[in-house]
Amino acid sequence: METDEPMSSGSDPTRQTQPAAIPGDSSAVEEQIRPGDLTEFVGQGAVVDNLKVYLEAAKKRGDSLDHTLFSGMPGLGKTTLSSLIAAQMGVNFRATSGPVLDKAKDLVGLLTELQEGDVLFIDEVHRVSRVVEEYLYTAMEDFQIDILIDSGPNARSMRIHLPKFTLVAATTREGNLTSPFRARFGIHEKLEPYAVEDLIRILERSARILGVEIDQEGARVLASRCRGTPRIANRYLRRVRDFADVDGSNRIDEECARAALDRLGVDPFGLDTVDRKILEVVARADGTPVGVKTIAVTVGEEERTIEDVHEPYLIRAGFIEKTTRGRVLGPAADKVVDGATGGRQQGSLDLEDSV
Ligand SMILES: Nc1ncnc2c1ncn2[C@@H]1O[C@H](COP(=O)(O)OP(=O)(O)O)[C@@H](O)[C@H]1O
Ligand SMILES: [Mg+2]
Repeated sequence: METDEPMSSGSDPTRQTQPAAIPGDSSAVEEQIRPGDLTEFVGQGAVVDNLKVYLEAAKKRGDSLDHTLFSGMPGLGKTTLSSLIAAQMGVNFRATSGPVLDKAKDLVGLLTELQEGDVLFIDEVHRVSRVVEEYLYTAMEDFQIDILIDSGPNARSMRIHLPKFTLVAATTREGNLTSPFRARFGIHEKLEPYAVEDLIRILERSARILGVEIDQEGARVLASRCRGTPRIANRYLRRVRDFADVDGSNRIDEECARAALDRLGVDPFGLDTVDRKILEVVARADGTPVGVKTIAVTVGEEERTIEDVHEPYLIRAGFIEKTTRGRVLGPAADKVVDGATGGRQQGSLDLEDSV
């Protein structure tokens, strides 16, 4: 497991990158409320049940878990579940991410530091470079890698044997992975947006940890406006708490939650300012498909943010449709565009009906 290659890299390989599109999240607080045990992980019943079986079976055999791929929109719990796998297996969790891991050397450094059974977590795995992907193939399949030492006439290849580790990878864009790469993961699990009742439980737990009082109805308002996403629910909880603190009420109820979310620009459909701007751009084109570049420039966000963070929900909820030539309004759009407030005052929309 030793190489004489210098393994230093410019970037800290253990750094975790979160989608840039969700600003205002203090990662320290996020860590504080991240479930530390599989029993605290709410919802995703089928995924969790499957994982429990795989974990149990691997433990029984005294083996490491198969390589695992989690896909799903940002904030649904991919990183959390990945770290819970390591916790359940009682092994180390080494985290990195696709954009950080651009040189083979960075990967080799990480791989050679692993111990038997460890989890190597690669977030945003669809963004690893081609070279890194090639290295991962043999690392995943044969638990060995061939590296080139020295250059010129002294160049020689050296085989490094790796401990049997588990690669756990997360992606918001499973479709961007090459099929040979995808095929090397024995376990594929897709996380879906959460039902309102699950989000209420998540919010109640987060509120307990943060020392905030929130009643069922208050939690329901946040749960139905967070696009089925725990990270967004938790973020709203923290902001609503700020409003409640300032107003001197020490309890978040329905009215307080509604008022705070309105002030944050989050409407009953869970759309925020950027979402509505996107809809306006598409609406203004009057049926002509709009490209993501145009949308990005007009709303002032990165294309990636539009595609990974905003569009999945807008498409899912029927506000926009993606055609080969661009985006057009979807069947649900007339509820929100057109006169801006059209259907917006009708109270909160239950996500379970809309997604
Ligand atoms: N099933 C869940 N139960 C409780 N909290 C959750 C759950 N899923 C996500 N969270 C919360 O949402 C936040 C974002 O989850 P994370 O795992 O970072 O999402 P992803 O990696 O998919 O973007 C975490 O800090 C965690 O507190
Ligand atoms: Mg993550």
